[in-house]
Amino acid sequence: MSRRLALITGASAGIGAAFARVYAEAGCDVAITARRRDRLETLAAEIRKAHGVEVYCVSCDLAAPGAVDALLAEIKGHGREVDILVNNAGYGLPGGWSDTRWEDQAYFLQLMLTAPLELSHKVLGGMAQRGWGRILNIASLAGYAPVSSGHTLYGAVKAALIRFSQSVNIEMGAKGVHVTAVCPGFTLSEFHDVNGTRDAVNRLPRYLWQSAEQVARIGRKANEANRAVVVTGVPNKLIAGLSKVMPDDVGLMLGKSATWRQAGAKKT
Ligand SMILES: NC(=O)c1ccc[n+]([C@@H]2O[C@H](COP(=O)([O-])OP(=O)(O)OC[C@H]3O[C@@H](n4cnc5c(N)ncnc54)[C@H](OP(=O)(O)O)[C@@H]3O)[C@@H](O)[C@H]2O)c1
Repeated sequence: MSRRLALITGASAGIGAAFARVYAEAGCDVAITARRRDRLETLAAEIRKAHGVEVYCVSCDLAAPGAVDALLAEIKGHGREVDILVNNAGYGLPGGWSDTRWEDQAYFLQLMLTAPLELSHKVLGGMAQRGWGRILNIASLAGYAPVSSGHTLYGAVKAALIRFSQSVNIEMGAKGVHVTAVCPGFTLSEFHDVNGTRDAVNRLPRYLWQSAEQVARIGRKANEANRAVVVTGVPNKLIAGLSKVMPDDVGLMLGKSATWRQAGAKKT
């Protein structure tokens, strides 16, 4: 098999589906995974018809015990190795730290951090041996922006993915493996329906939004250029740049005032 294989997690919607289309368009076979098998099959049929590449659908809950090994075993069962890994599956967990169940936070950590780390760890060796590999970790502008209350671990997890990508980018660069953290801002997908913030974010100005396809194209291009981090779009780059030079105390003040404003808004 001469075509490279791109494994994309969370490909049943949004940014993951866009990455699957972008890599197939670039001539790669794709392995797409998420929980909703019907969505994966529909996307697979579309991609096969448009690009004539091989598409493997693997339905799994990536936060379930043993999910990463089962996913990689299924790909190996097709006689394939992962050449490109897009760690994308994700969601937001609403609520404050003390209002949420530990079980829900543990599941969130497993999907958002442990699974991408485990996947990248388990495919990196093969990539290094073959002298070619690509890993994209879909982080977020939230990994740079000041924190506020609620969605407590989201920014922390995305910041960890950014720092992790930077380290492994340095470690693997000489071995032909490119590693990139992709940091989108507000992106049109199902994300804000799932995390219950659709009404609030619909009030944001149009220039803050990007399509999932824009994010995927920018992400792939940056990864091909072996950039350790890419923030997608000019407004997001400005916000990330400002956040990086903003003293922590100022960021915390902004976070507090946003939180208190929201609390005040709820009382009225
Ligand atoms: N949209 C934004 O504004 C935005 C901004 C910055 C970063 N991001 C990041 O971008 C990534 C993709 O989000 P999106 O905007 O494309 O959201 P989305 O449209 O809701 O898609 C999320 C994908 O993750 C999959 N997924 C969720 N839980 C899963 C689980 N337990 N096991 C396997 N797959 C699971 C979903 O598939 P199933 O439900 O079928 O399992 C779906 O394919 C996330 O990591 C998110 O944090 C999004």
